[in-house]
Amino acid sequence: MATNITWHPSLSRSERQTNRKQRGFTLWFTGLSASGKSTIATALEQHLLHLGLAAYRLDGDNVRFGLNKDLGFSEADRNENIRRIGEVAKLFADSATIAITSFISPYRKDRQVARDLHAAKNAANPEDEPLPFIEVFVDIPLEVAEQRDPKGLYKKAREGKIPEFTGISAPYEAPESPEIHIRSDLKSVEESVVAIVDYLNSKGLLK
Ligand code: PPS
Repeated sequence: MATNITWHPSLSRSERQTNRKQRGFTLWFTGLSASGKSTIATALEQHLLHLGLAAYRLDGDNVRFGLNKDLGFSEADRNENIRRIGEVAKLFADSATIAITSFISPYRKDRQVARDLHAAKNAANPEDEPLPFIEVFVDIPLEVAEQRDPKGLYKKAREGKIPEFTGISAPYEAPESPEIHIRSDLKSVEESVVAIVDYLNSKGLLK
């Protein structure tokens, strides 16, 4: 970490939320490649925008074209990928936007780091409420993901052409107690969106 840096005072979270008339929080999607994370997250983003809410989706493949283009798929690079996304999602949520992230995020400890970051007290405004962090587990049996294989990546991974492929030659650590658990092979995209919106309403997050 750099030395000789000072935190600059910022507006309080409640001031931003009141003026924007919505709460900021993060919906953290996690699941295997081809589980449907991005499809459900995109449909949800669209639904929230139609309700007049500010929402923004950060996507695995897309972020790797820009912000994280220096990172690959080793464990260390995935740790750094998720660390940066956690920080970016927190900034969106802090600005009273709904941050929707869709990354495999295969390691439990990385997801916990992102969660802790949202829960951390803001030293500049200690009266600020923590930012809600909602983990959405998009769960699908590996065999079904492999049958879907929309990008042909599982086939290549089985042929040994992609090293460290999640579920095949790299681990996926499923969440133990996610706020929302979707079996995406048993629910349609629309039903999944309804389940998430119902959860958000039950917590008073869409008021
Ligand atoms: S991670 O594990 O959270 O850092 O991965 P993420 O940033 O979400 O990127 C996943 C997308 O990258 C493509 N891809 C791979 N996935 C897993 N393992 C390996 N080795 C790999 N190589 C490339 C793939 O398209 C993933 O997209 P999704 O949408 O998940 O299928």
